[in-house]
Amino acid sequence: MAWKKEFKTKEGKKIILRDLARQDTALKLKTFYNDLVKERTHVLYETPISLAEERKWLTDTWRSIRKKDAILIIIEQDGRMVGSASANRMKQKNRYNVSLGIALSKDIRRMGIGTVAMQEIIKRVKKTMKPKHICLCVSSANKPGQKLYTKLGFRKVYRLKEWIHHFGEFYDEIFMILKK
Ligand SMILES: CC(C)(COP(=O)(O)OP(=O)(O)OC[C@H]1O[C@@H](n2cnc3c(N)ncnc32)[C@H](O)[C@@H]1OP(=O)(O)O)[C@@H](O)C(=O)NCCC(=O)NCCS
Repeated sequence: MAWKKEFKTKEGKKIILRDLARQDTALKLKTFYNDLVKERTHVLYETPISLAEERKWLTDTWRSIRKKDAILIIIEQDGRMVGSASANRMKQKNRYNVSLGIALSKDIRRMGIGTVAMQEIIKRVKKTMKPKHICLCVSSANKPGQKLYTKLGFRKVYRLKEWIHHFGEFYDEIFMILKK
């Protein structure tokens, strides 16, 4: 059965965390993602993702979910997609390691939703994917991201100097691993 969890923020917002489902179309996911790109947040893309790219990504993600190599949590508020949290098994000799990602719409940040979503995905990753390590990458410019991850128990392992190009500036990439 598909996984689902509901909770209320301290501001009284009812939030639903649930597995990716058929109603999550490439168009809906693309719209959510491109809003983050337009806002110049520290997601991977600098220019909007196309529908064809999003369709391919969604097909690959469904395949990985079926193989239990990925988890994608959709975050909803009032029937609207307001975020996602992802876990992906790495490839080949790195396959015992799982990499995480998260992004929330602007209007629901700083309410503890990122903390809850990450705690839930970490619990599920440990239970179903049995990883050796849980890791993630964050830009040196992304202070909210670094704070969230540190609070959850991630530790900085290495830093690649001026690795990320973000709208005309170079920033370091910080690699973090969850403390056991
Ligand atoms: C990074 C992100 C997921 C954080 O989620 P969030 O729900 O806002 O985080 P939380 O409310 O759970 O806060 C967790 C901690 O992070 C810190 N934090 C979060 N936002 C912050 C901000 N804007 N300024 C300073 N600290 C911040 C706080 O220390 C907070 O803990 P506290 O409330 O106990 O002090 C969210 O800002 C986001 O989606 N940003 C855009 C996309 C992105 O950067 N994704 C990550 C790419 S690596």
